[in-house]
Amino acid sequence: MTLSEDRLRERLAPRAVRFYPQVESTNDLAMEWLQQGAVSGAVVVADEQSKGRGRLGRTWHTPPGVSLAVSMILRPRPEHLPQVTMLGALAIHDMLVGLGLAKTGIKWPNDVHINRRKVSGVLAEAAWTGDKLAGVVLGMGINVRADFSGSNLAQQAISIEPALGRAVDRVDLLVDLLARADVWAEQLGTKTLFTAWQSRLVTLGQTVTYGGLTGTAELVTPDGALSIRTGDGQLYRVFAGDVVVEDGS
Ligand code: BTN
Repeated sequence: MTLSEDRLRERLAPRAVRFYPQVESTNDLAMEWLQQGAVSGAVVVADEQSKGRGRLGRTWHTPPGVSLAVSMILRPRPEHLPQVTMLGALAIHDMLVGLGLAKTGIKWPNDVHINRRKVSGVLAEAAWTGDKLAGVVLGMGINVRADFSGSNLAQQAISIEPALGRAVDRVDLLVDLLARADVWAEQLGTKTLFTAWQSRLVTLGQTVTYGGLTGTAELVTPDGALSIRTGDGQLYRVFAGDVVVEDGS
């Protein structure tokens, strides 16, 4: 089934929704809408992105018909900002488990993996007016039926449909995802949200490399930082970036 403005409006009512067949980045449009006063919970959805952005300045590919690209506007308290990406990863993770994809986990910080391959990523971008937080755009990209075979991502990326062995409807996924995101958004700043995120991390206990540092991913803290224990017993905290796990994921 195709994504369309009518289907989305009907299934997501009364949520404020903007749908576009093709955009540069849903995060950009959501940021404009946020600044024009969009309510918390409003979403921008696109079928295709021509300049989708990932973390760390990377490109996020969203070809037409095969992915979910959604940006949710939230207006959290500034002290809850580190948990916004956690809530996105949690909602995606739990939606996938709900579909029956048991081998789903969160790779620190907030990549969602199935069988050690990335199915989804989260990019949160904050808007400030001076030193006041105006809001956050929580961008979520999910591979639904993107085909990575023959590409240089074949070993690292996966889509929902081949993992599940059946077709899924992107509107159904979105309805489920946003309902879960709403629930977790109510929990921003709580220990419940942090411990839920922590319990779904597949990175803890693994040997990881971060820049020139190799050690065991030992623990995470509510600000989202990861502590890595190196061979000489030192504990290093890292706040952003990517770790490479020993298994190559
Ligand atoms: C990552 O894993 O690096 C984060 C990827 C985030 C991609 C989503 S797709 C919807 C939203 N719009 C963007 O341009 N990026 C995010």
